[in-house]
Order: sequence, then C-alpha cells, then structure tokens
Amino acid sequence: VVNVTKICCIGAGYVGGPTCAVIALKCPQIQVTIVDLNKARIDAWNSPDFQLPIYEPGLEDVVRKARGRNLFFSTDVDKAIQEADLIFVSVNTPTKKAGVGAGFAADLNYVELATRQIARVANSSKIVVEKSTVPCRTAESMRTILEANSKPNVRFDILSNPEFLAEGTAINDLFAPDRVLIGSLQSAEGKAACAALTNVYANWVPKERILNVGLWSSELSKLAANAMLAQRISSINALSAICEATGANIDEVANAVGYDSRVGPKFLKASVGFGGSCFQKDILNLVYLSESLHLPEVAAYWRQVVDMNEYQKRRFSQTVVDTLFNTITGKRIAVLGFAFKADTGDTRESAAITLIKNFHSERALINVYDPKVEHAQIWQDLTEVVPGSTAESLKKTITISPSALEACKNVEAVIIATEWSEFKTIDWQKVYDGMNKPAFVFDGRLLVDAEKLRKIGFKVTTIGRGERL
Ligand code: NAD
Ligand code: UDX
Repeated sequence: VVNVTKICCIGAGYVGGPTCAVIALKCPQIQVTIVDLNKARIDAWNSPDFQLPIYEPGLEDVVRKARGRNLFFSTDVDKAIQEADLIFVSVNTPTKKAGVGAGFAADLNYVELATRQIARVANSSKIVVEKSTVPCRTAESMRTILEANSKPNVRFDILSNPEFLAEGTAINDLFAPDRVLIGSLQSAEGKAACAALTNVYANWVPKERILNVGLWSSELSKLAANAMLAQRISSINALSAICEATGANIDEVANAVGYDSRVGPKFLKASVGFGGSCFQKDILNLVYLSESLHLPEVAAYWRQVVDMNEYQKRRFSQTVVDTLFNTITGKRIAVLGFAFKADTGDTRESAAITLIKNFHSERALINVYDPKVEHAQIWQDLTEVVPGSTAESLKKTITISPSALEACKNVEAVIIATEWSEFKTIDWQKVYDGMNKPAFVFDGRLLVDAEKLRKIGFKVTTIGRGERL
C-alpha cells in the first residue's frame, strides 16, 4: 500500500478547494497542491489578505492554518501532477449545452482533458481519484485513456471518491462527514489503492465511516444520494400546493411526517424550489443514464423531481402576480436573497434567478439585495436568462441595493428568496413604514414569523400555508 505523501488536486472550485484544504489541515505530513487553469481563482486562493474565491463559513480559518505550511495553490498543473502520489480530479461536470444528450447528460470534457493531461505528464505511478460527480462507469473511460497513453513502468489505479459536502456547511461536513465513500476495482491493486486513500481520511474520520465499495456502486451512489435528497424537497413542495388549497400547514405536515423515524425530520423544508449546482444537474444526468440503459419508466420517475421543482418556482411567481391584483407591471418589488441557499455566495441554479426573470417579463421594477453575492455575478446570471439583454439594459428596471432595508423602500411587495438569517432580524416595522400600502410580503422560505408581520400590518403569503393574507 502506497504511503501517500504528496497530493495534487486538479480543480480549485467549491469542492476541490475546501476538500483538499481540510485534508492539508488534518494531515500535516502530506503536501497538498491544488491546481487550476483559472489564474484569477488561484490568485484569490493565494491572496495575502485571504480574499478567497468562494465564501464558505470556516474556510478562511482552515486556509490560514495550512497555506504555505503543507497547502499550496498553483497554476502549474504539470508539476503538481508529476510530484504527486495521488491525484484528485475535481473539475466541473456541468450539464451538456449542445450535442448528443444536450440538456441532460454531463459534459465530461473537463474530466477527459484533465485525465489526458495526467497520462501525458506523469512519469511515475499514480492513484487517480475521481472526485467530480460523473455518470456511472466514467472511471472505465478514464482508465482506458490513462492506460492507452501511459509510459513504461507507470501504472495508474483509479478510485471513485464522490464528495457529499453541502455548500454553506462544507467545512463542518468535511470535518465530520456522515460517510466517506471510496469505490475501487475489487482486484488486489484496486484494494491497495483504496487502502492508501482510506489511510489519508483515517487521519480524522473514524474507520467505520469510511465505506469501501465497487467503482460503479460508488459512482451511482453519488447520483442516487442527490436524487433522493432532491426528491424529498419536491415531495414536500408538492404537498405545499395541497396545503395552500386546503388550509393545512406544510410545517405541521412535515413535522408530523418527519417524526416517523423511518422518514426522519431533515430536508423537509418547503421552499420556492431547490437550487444549487448539483441537484438538477445530477438528476438530469441520472435521467439520461436511465434512458441510455433503455429504462424509460425509471427516467420519467426521476424527471418528475425536476419538473416539480420548476412547477414550484412558476407557482410562486404566479401567486405574487395574482395577489398583487393580477398585475405587477410598473410595480416595484424587493427580492431579498440571490444565492441558492444561505451562507454561500454561490448562485448556480438559484430560484431567485427564475423569480426575477419572471417578474422582469411581467415588466416589474425590481430591487435585489444579497449579503454575499458579487454584483457582477448577479448581472451575469440575469443577462443569461433574459434573452438579448445586457447589464446596461437590465439596469433600467433592476437595481442592486446595498442593504435589505434599502431594497424594501417604496416597494409594493417584498419577496424572500433565500433563507439568510439577517432577513429574520431586520426591523420589519421600519420596512413597513417605508413601503407602499397595502404592504405585501411573500415568504418563499418559511423564514419569518408571519403572525408578527401581520400584527405590524403586512399582508403575508407563505409557501404551504392555507390562510393567505
Ligand atoms: P467549480 O466550477 O467550482 O470548480 C471546478 C474547477 O475546475 C474550476 O475552477 C475550473 O477552472 C477547473 N478546471 C476545469 N478543468 C480543468 C483542468 N483541465 N485543469 C485544471 N483545472 C480545471 O466546480 P465545483 O462546484 O467544485 O464542482 C466540481 C465537481 O464536484 C463537479 O463534478 C460537481 O458536480 C461535484 N460536486 C459539487 C458539489 C458542490 O456543492 N459544489 C458537491 C459535491 C460534488
Ligand atoms: C447538495 C447535497 O446536499 C450535497 O450532499 C451534495 O454534495 C451537493 O448537493 P448543496 O446543493 O450545496 O448540496 O446544498 P443543499 O443544502 O443540499 O441545498 C440545495 C437546495 O435545496 C438549496 O436551494 C436549499 O435551499 C434547498 N432546500 C434544502 C430546500 O428547499 N429544502 C430543504 O429542506 C433543504
């Protein structure tokens, strides 16, 4: 079994960065180098004042402790590959935009390019670890590429080690993971490679939480975990529509259902719809996989989880229009929150983007506020979804506000799109005083105390509650 002393991580993003920073922190005897083609990103990881490229609670502290000691960030991909015993491939695998499987299949181009680069420059044996989320049997393609291009006396062992961290809680998730999953071939070499990676995690993860399985099970487990988590949200959101129509209360229903120990209480929060870079992409990937395997019923089953999520976002936008007397044209609306969830600056697939797009198409005037998202990111996301728009053209009707209070001034309605805790504690009386009347609040996150707001005078609409206004 190889004693891993040098690790290279290809991809310094939301997964590669935090994951390998924590490995460096927990394994001071291992040198960890995280590389990326994106120089701006690497410069940010190396910035003297720790202006890191991603916002994640606790991350800065980890990087402060390990950077320069045994944690390095670099754009010299070749050198880091050559030096390492073990290489994580943690590059992006977005949904394909064109060609076969467009809109569903994962784009494996970045994985393939990284794999070819490893094959080309490695001059000693390596354990190559697939960290990116990929369709089942991708490791096979990686192995074929590596073996077809390797030099004499260089061997590659491939492992699958999907990442289960959630953004916003990544550091805690990495410090105390529910499980670490390592997939390998069941050959002697495969098991030895698996043992080498297991020893790395065993520096801080209890052995019984490190699961060793076959390669294909490992790859599929990642898609399965995300599909089942997202399915819980779509299930609760489907029920929220019934609650609104009947007078039942979705929080009470979720609580009652979640008390059953077979169901469990977590991940049953009704919302305006799930976002994030993973759920939709990975489910569509599973749908595509099912279709390729000639399993149309299975594909349709998982597809419905994404369709329900789209329906929820549409339904919420429609409720806003209906409640504001069937028109929002020319009306000013505040959207609080732009990130896909609290405690992250990430906006990928954020429900807020869809809501703003819908309000914009109804010709509303919109104030947006988010405590963490960069303004440039907001303009980029919105120009992508509004056909033919530029940041300049959007600025005629959309304003980015410097605070929640500022965003809510002189508006007809406030929409809570992200569950940032600061929206709970803003001075709602002050918000009310500064708004046009009737003052509407639409809580897409079951965040605020609706009764308290109603006492102030607001007309409050909450996801999954029968008693409207
Ligand atoms: P990301 O886009 O934040 O980071 C990927 C990085 O890889 C980018 O900085 C890109 O420049 C770099 N890159 C691409 N090709 C490269 C190459 N050939 N050489 C060097 N660098 C290269 O993506 P992410 O959110 O970190 O996700 C990475 C993978 O992890 C995806 O497969 C994703 O599905 C999976 N995943 C993500 C999360 C999450 O919460 N974001 C959680 C679990 C799994
Ligand atoms: C998810 C998985 O949780 C993680 O294990 C995987 O590695 C990556 O994908 P992430 O997308 O970062 O993580 O965040 P998550 O906490 O799962 O939230 C995803 C979306 O679902 C967010 O928009 C969140 O607001 C929403 N959500 C979550 C709900 O609407 N209701 C819930 O009960 C939970």
